[in-house]
Amino acid sequence: MNTSVTPEIRDLRLYTAAQLRPLLDAENHLWLERLNWDYMSSTRLLLEYLDARALPGFVAVEHGEIIGYVFCVYEANKGVIGNVFAAPQPSGQSAHSDTIRRELQRILLEQAIALLTHSPGIDRVETQLLLHEAREHADALEAAGFRRVERLYMLRELHESGFSPQHPPVTGGCLLRQWRDADMATAAQLIVSAYHDHPDSRINDQYQTPQGAQRFLHNIVRYPGCGTFVPEASFVAVDALTGTMAGMVLSSRISTFCGHITQICVAPQFRRRGLAEQLLRVATQALTAYGLTRLTLTVTAANQSAIRLYLREKFYEHRRFDAAVWTRHGF
Ligand SMILES: CC(C)(COP(=O)(O)OP(=O)(O)OC[C@H]1O[C@@H](n2cnc3c(N)ncnc32)[C@H](O)[C@@H]1OP(=O)(O)O)[C@@H](O)C(=O)NCCC(=O)NCCS
Repeated sequence: MNTSVTPEIRDLRLYTAAQLRPLLDAENHLWLERLNWDYMSSTRLLLEYLDARALPGFVAVEHGEIIGYVFCVYEANKGVIGNVFAAPQPSGQSAHSDTIRRELQRILLEQAIALLTHSPGIDRVETQLLLHEAREHADALEAAGFRRVERLYMLRELHESGFSPQHPPVTGGCLLRQWRDADMATAAQLIVSAYHDHPDSRINDQYQTPQGAQRFLHNIVRYPGCGTFVPEASFVAVDALTGTMAGMVLSSRISTFCGHITQICVAPQFRRRGLAEQLLRVATQALTAYGLTRLTLTVTAANQSAIRLYLREKFYEHRRFDAAVWTRHGF
């Protein structure tokens, strides 16, 4: 069986959003099918960048048709590899067409890796290949010196319970209240303390500093990359005596029917009192009241205490994917 692929690889910046539209539609179909995620509503910004011809990346072209793409984002001295996607082959769902598609995605991923790791100002490259199976690109990533970390995409169904999210409860000496925009700076500090020496701060370096964590929060709250932020289902836990922020849960809507927990963390000194469980329950109930019927989240496979919590709260493992990090000066 011939599974070799010889597409022409071109600069993504030569193409507009309209030219990529059929490919993006096919990708969106897969995001919905695999992740319950309406990717198009999350990517207004991506489309704007495409039209501004400002998105670094590559397309694979065969017989004049765009059959795959990869894009990258530069954030100061860090490069992030965004989506890597190749369209299903016309021969359908056969194992042969699947092999060709994977091969094409590998070629595109290797192009993005080479672009970023050979960019002089770039010291770090991160990627989270949500749409791909874990280990699918292990060879390409590991050959380029990436550290690969398996992550779970977890899912649960939501059922109406009659809860009224206007009256949040008190738990473990903390009051739960709705997220406010003014919480951003304090929440960034909380993220840094909660993720200190944590596997997730090794795959996302924004968790390592208050400035980085604030950028992360800003992206979640203001931009649709992680879905549309739902403030009504985002809460902070505040120590009833001191007013210290003890924990938070942030939620978004990733499709008309599905929500996503974009962040949940509790400061070390407030752990093991049931705060995370309560935060998750309040968010879940608010998202149900908001009309959603499914809820998803991502978690690193090594984060067993968080996984135990999610399993207790009726989440189950839906898919496994890879996150990966490369650093110029080693780990
Ligand atoms: C994961 C995390 C959010 C859990 O927060 P938490 O508030 O400690 O969670 P809970 O208190 O609800 O549950 C934690 C444990 O305490 C136990 N617990 C809950 N209430 C308790 C109590 N009153 N007394 C004793 N133990 C208790 C739970 O049974 C659970 O036990 P387990 O780890 O053996 O399963 C927290 O550890 C954290 O912020 N970690 C870093 C960030 C992170 O990993 N976030 C998730 C990313 S996907």
